[in-house]
Amino acid sequence: MRRWRLAARVCGAWLAAAGALRAAEPATKEFIWAIPKAELHIHFEGTLEPEHYLELAKRNALPVRYATAAAVRQRQRDGRDLKSFIEVYEELLSVIRTEADFREVTLAHLRRTKAQQIVYTEMFFDPQMHTERGIPLATVFAGLLAAQAAARDELGVRVEYIMCFNRDRSAESALAILEASRPWHRRILGVGLDNPEEKDFPRKFAGVFARARSLGLRATSHCDVNQPNTLAHHWGCLDELKVERIDHGINVLDDPALIAAVKARGIGLTVCPTLMEAEIPGRLEFRAKAVKQMLELGLLVTINSDDPGLMRGLLVGDLMLAVHQTVGLTKAEIVTLAENSFRIAWLPEAERATYLAAVRAAAAIK
Ligand code: ADE
Ligand code: ZN
Repeated sequence: MRRWRLAARVCGAWLAAAGALRAAEPATKEFIWAIPKAELHIHFEGTLEPEHYLELAKRNALPVRYATAAAVRQRQRDGRDLKSFIEVYEELLSVIRTEADFREVTLAHLRRTKAQQIVYTEMFFDPQMHTERGIPLATVFAGLLAAQAAARDELGVRVEYIMCFNRDRSAESALAILEASRPWHRRILGVGLDNPEEKDFPRKFAGVFARARSLGLRATSHCDVNQPNTLAHHWGCLDELKVERIDHGINVLDDPALIAAVKARGIGLTVCPTLMEAEIPGRLEFRAKAVKQMLELGLLVTINSDDPGLMRGLLVGDLMLAVHQTVGLTKAEIVTLAENSFRIAWLPEAERATYLAAVRAAAAIK
């Protein structure tokens, strides 16, 4: 018996050593694909592919600004900033009108995630952009929730929702949506902020966020990359909005005090090392280096796809691979990225533990 225990101990030590050796190895596409992961920064409206936009416009008999998918992509190549990106985004989403459309667009995206083992998604949506077009909130929620059930039953993947307010709309409009959406609050995880950053962001939304938190909703906010006053915006999101995560958040690295605060408070960072329709020199390299640095600092960084419909259709696995090919990631770093995605997900603890165990199991057999 004693001899058996000793043999088991030796064997265990050997396995741990082999595991450690494998962990230090460079990542591979096969390894990245095999690890279960969560997507935490993706916009429902940004999942719509240009081809699907044209199909929905035809079905709903709506006029379109872009006659071909190539024209949409060309317009994105010509765009210079977040504002012009959002102009195209708003044009594309204008063809999503019925409950069936909301369901179909969500499921079209989730179908694509399965192959890359993106087993859990927290998806943003922008209700103001729909109610402003005369779409009832009930239609938006019915479509999204129907997709959630179908994803679970037909695809075996899970999607949850985060309701975003638009930073270029008023706080009153955000508050009105927050109150109007109360019948569905138990069906969403929390609230976020997106669209271009305005000069009164984030203070303008402090009251709305306090109200959302008092209603039991969790809070996150975009702090887009290299925006004017970015450090003040990051601090405001932490101290005034009291967010648990920052979406993008790369500029945290510009301020040692911010790095320390983000680390001490356990704030998650949902970075998007995305590729745009136009190759922007140095863009991916800058974001990939930030991911590597955040990993080295022990920050809760994750890799996310943001708006794959308008960003070459690339998903979390593709982007982990792109970061690896740019700055080199070890298998251990891929595992940390996947673990972080579940650590900062807004999941009940028992489900978090199940997903984390699945990551470790997949890493061990690869
Ligand atoms: N809406 C869609 N994607 C966005 C982003 N990255 N930043 C702000 N608003 C967005
Ligand atoms: Zn985003």
